[in-house]
Amino acid sequence: MIETERLILRPWRDTDREPFWAMACDPQVMAYLPPLTRDESDAAVNRMMAVEREHGHVFWALERKAEGDFIGFCGILPPRSPIFEYEIGWRLAHHAWGQGLAREAAQASLAWAWAHLPVPAIMAITNLANTRSWRLMERLGMERYPNEDFDHPELAEGDPLRPHILYRIQRPQP
Ligand SMILES: CC(C)(COP(=O)(O)OP(=O)(O)OC[C@H]1O[C@@H](n2cnc3c(N)ncnc32)[C@H](O)[C@@H]1OP(=O)(O)O)[C@@H](O)C(=O)NCCC(=O)NCCS
Repeated sequence: MIETERLILRPWRDTDREPFWAMACDPQVMAYLPPLTRDESDAAVNRMMAVEREHGHVFWALERKAEGDFIGFCGILPPRSPIFEYEIGWRLAHHAWGQGLAREAAQASLAWAWAHLPVPAIMAITNLANTRSWRLMERLGMERYPNEDFDHPELAEGDPLRPHILYRIQRPQP
């Protein structure tokens, strides 16, 4: 469990399934993400739980300390297809945007990664149109690698969400 000023980053619980599904039903949250059915939403939670159990880290569930409510996820995933590097990622309920909460969670995730993972760098990917996501990457000090733009292989050709951009941050020098 990671604690920040306003947040707790923690393993997923069964009680997160309902508010996570509510996020999947919000077109603002899903504007640049592939749609999820209820089964796919629950399967995503199952995968988060399994990855956390196996690796000790994941896109953790985010809870506001004051309210004790689930507001989304942020954290680090181990290397997987299509970019085989450690990845930072985030998704917050719309009511939690615009307060610096994603940034607070992401900074804590990066600090955790530098302390616990023997990695030289962490990357993040998003769709070019997802300005809120890549602006956060830039606020975190991540740098875009335009030569590494790619089409996400899990999205169909012609899908406007398919073109992806990649940002990376190098481990801070001591
Ligand atoms: C991407 C996402 C996490 C960004 O969230 P966010 O709230 O915009 O990001 P931050 O936490 O950095 O907050 C920044 C905003 O909070 C404001 N803010 C308010 N109080 C703040 C504080 N104490 N500290 C920092 N920023 C603060 C900033 O001024 C900025 O405002 P702006 O949006 O008007 O420019 C969010 O939009 C999201 O969940 N999107 C849907 C899911 C998604 O697309 N995920 C990414 C897939 S690749």
